[in-house]
Amino acid sequence: MKLRRWITAGAVATLAALNVTPATAGRPYDPAAQSLRDLAMRHGLYVGTAVDLAALNDATDPRYRELAASEFSTVTAENAMKWESLEPTRGTYNWGPADELVAFAHQHHQRVRGHVLVWHNQLPSWLTSGVEDGSISTAELRQILHDHITAVVTHFKGSIWQWDVVNEAVSDPWDTPSTLHYKGFWAQHLGPGYIADAFRWARAADPKALLFYNDYNIEALGSGDPANDKTQFVYEMARDLRAAGVPIDGIGSQGHLGTQYGNYDTFQVATALKKFAGLGLATAFTEVDVRSQLTDGVQAGDSAEINPRLQASAANFGVLLRACLAESHCLSFTLWGFTDKHSWVPGWFKNPPEGMATVYDENYQPKRAYQEMKADLIYSGPPFVLPRVPQQPRR
Ligand code: XIL
Repeated sequence: MKLRRWITAGAVATLAALNVTPATAGRPYDPAAQSLRDLAMRHGLYVGTAVDLAALNDATDPRYRELAASEFSTVTAENAMKWESLEPTRGTYNWGPADELVAFAHQHHQRVRGHVLVWHNQLPSWLTSGVEDGSISTAELRQILHDHITAVVTHFKGSIWQWDVVNEAVSDPWDTPSTLHYKGFWAQHLGPGYIADAFRWARAADPKALLFYNDYNIEALGSGDPANDKTQFVYEMARDLRAAGVPIDGIGSQGHLGTQYGNYDTFQVATALKKFAGLGLATAFTEVDVRSQLTDGVQAGDSAEINPRLQASAANFGVLLRACLAESHCLSFTLWGFTDKHSWVPGWFKNPPEGMATVYDENYQPKRAYQEMKADLIYSGPPFVLPRVPQQPRR
C-alpha cells in the first residue's frame, strides 16, 4: 500500500513536472469530470472535509459516504476527537467513533487532520465543574491537560498528518476587553503558557505529526483596526513560539466566511498565508464554509435572493482556494462539511437563520461553489501555482 502510494505520487509529480494531463485511451480527457481530490493532487494539495460520524454510518444516506470517500483526500472528525467525545468520564476513553474515521481514511487512502487537543469548547463537564467547584486545583489541571494530550496523541500516533494542537485561543475585537488577548478556559486557569506546553507535550507523544495552531478570522491581515488585528496577533504569537523553540509547524486558518460580510480578495488572503510561511510554517485552510442569511425570500425560493448568495458563496470559496494554491506551503484545504444536508451552520446560527454554507445542496447536487473550486484547481499551475512544499516536523 505504501509502495502504491509512492508510485501514484511519483506519477502525479512526473505529470505535473511535464505539465501534461493524463488521457484515457480513446476518450478525450475531461478535467471537470475528475474529483476534487484528483484535481488537487496535481498541485500536491490535499482537499478535505469534516466528517459527521452519524451521517457516515447512516445506511439510508449512502451518498454521504460515497462522496466523503471519492471527493476528498483528507478528513477531519467534526466532533469525534473533541475532549467531551474522547473522555466523557475522567480516565475512561471512548475511542470507537474516532477510530472508525481513521479506518475509513485508511481504506480510502486519505490523510487525517486531528481536531482538536486543546480548546475551551466541548469540554466534558467533569472537567469544567471540577475546576469551578475547586475540586481540581491549578496544578492538577495542568497535569490533566498533559495526560489528555499524551493519551490522545499516543493513541493515534502514526495516523495523524496534522494535529490542531490549540484551537481558538485568541479573542476577537468584539470581546471584552476589546484589546486582543488570550481568552477562554485554559488561559483563565493556566495562563497563556499552556500553549507552549501543549505543543511540547504533543511533540513528545508523536515526533512525526505536524502540529498546528488553528483559529478563525485570521484569513487576512489589516481587516478592522490595525492596532487590534487578530491575524497579526496570531502571527506574533507564532513568531514568539518559534523563537522560543516551541515545536509548532503550521497555522490553520478555519475559513468560516459569510456572504453578508465584506470578506476578502485573493491577494489579501495570499499575503497572510505568505506571512506565516515566512516564519517557516506550513498553512492550511481547515474548516471552510460560506454561510448566507436565509431570509424569508430565500426560504420562499425567490431566485432573486438565492442567486446572489450562490454566486457570492462560489466567489468566496474561490478566493480562499486560489490564495492557498498561490502559496506553496498551504498544504490542505478542508471544508467544514460538504453538503447542506449535514452542516453545522443552521443549528448554530439561528438568529437570523443562516445556511447554504457548503458546496453541495441538501440533495447532494453540486453547487456553483463546487464547480468554481474545480475550475480553480484545473486552470492553475506554473509559474504562479507550484507544487506543495512538504513540511518537516520541527524538533
Ligand atoms: C462545530 C461542529 O461542527 C458542531 O457539530 C458542534 O456542535 C460544534 O462545533 N470551530 C471549530 C469546530 O474549531 O470544532 C466547530 O465545529 C466549528 C467552529
